[in-house]
Amino acid sequence: MTLEQRLAVCRERVDPALERFLPADGEVPTRLVAAMRHALSGGKRLRPFLCMEAARAFGLRPETVLPTACGLEMLHCATLVHDDMPCVDDSDLRHGRAACHVEFDEATALLAGDALIIGAFECLTRQAEEPDIAPERVLRCVRELAEYTGVRGLVVGEALDIETEGRPCTESELEFIHLNKTAKLIICSSRSGAVLAGAPDDQLARLSEYAEALGLLFQITDDLLDVDGDTASTGKPVGADAAAGKATYPGLLGLAAARERAELFGARALQSAKGLPNREVWEALVEFVVKRRH
Ligand code: IPE
Ligand code: IPE
Ligand code: MG
Ligand code: MG
Ligand code: MG
Repeated sequence: MTLEQRLAVCRERVDPALERFLPADGEVPTRLVAAMRHALSGGKRLRPFLCMEAARAFGLRPETVLPTACGLEMLHCATLVHDDMPCVDDSDLRHGRAACHVEFDEATALLAGDALIIGAFECLTRQAEEPDIAPERVLRCVRELAEYTGVRGLVVGEALDIETEGRPCTESELEFIHLNKTAKLIICSSRSGAVLAGAPDDQLARLSEYAEALGLLFQITDDLLDVDGDTASTGKPVGADAAAGKATYPGLLGLAAARERAELFGARALQSAKGLPNREVWEALVEFVVKRRH
């Protein structure tokens, strides 16, 4: 199976589970649920995939960690809704459709994002209802999600991404932004599956190293797609980073050097993958991210 096919299998499991999480039609008398559904649709499901593959690698059936996988995707989708809002990146297009605040309105998008973030933590705690999983492991995942995405994680990355707009920034500042806004949720997603499966600390550390490199690679390829991608594949505007004066690798170093950095992080991820169980899937993911057009 190709990685694209594996991701499709993951989507087939995750999408109905996400739908089950949402209130049923008419249960909540508001457009909020429609906005949440809109926000949750159309993504690659990379973060649930990482969680479920890490669980598999350390001996759990991937389905067992579905609640956590869904929570990670909910949090991710919420960050995209907030990231697209006029006060952040002001982007009208996501997943080839109107961004949430355009399809609905800003207040609804803001609240849909809030509800998804809170829902993410609800999903993670529901993992404890799974009989095979020790509650301490669930608790650790909840704490790690807060740590990797809060004020020392994704949120600080987003804050600095805005603060550095239109001003010079060093490569190490840029790497710090990418580590936080993107790589940390990717690390957290991989770790969650492994934590739930009871992976030993040395393997968790190895997986974190791998996922950090994959996450940094992922954001460079995202920045490259903003330069040389096309909207038909990415489903989002092209050229938006330069127009907004965003700090990016292509902007800071030029296209050729940005591609070299991507190769460097790819090589680093492949090196870490060598020590991981189910090495092939981790390697295939690196290749997928390097070559991705969406
Ligand atoms: C987009 O992430 C935001 C970044 C971290 C670059 P994805 O490319 O994984 O978003 P999906 O697949 O549309 O959900
Ligand atoms: C966003 O980075 C990362 C998030 C935490 C949402 P970008 O702003 O580059 O992501 P896109 O290009 O809008 O998907
Ligand atoms: Mg952004
Ligand atoms: Mg953006
Ligand atoms: Mg981008």
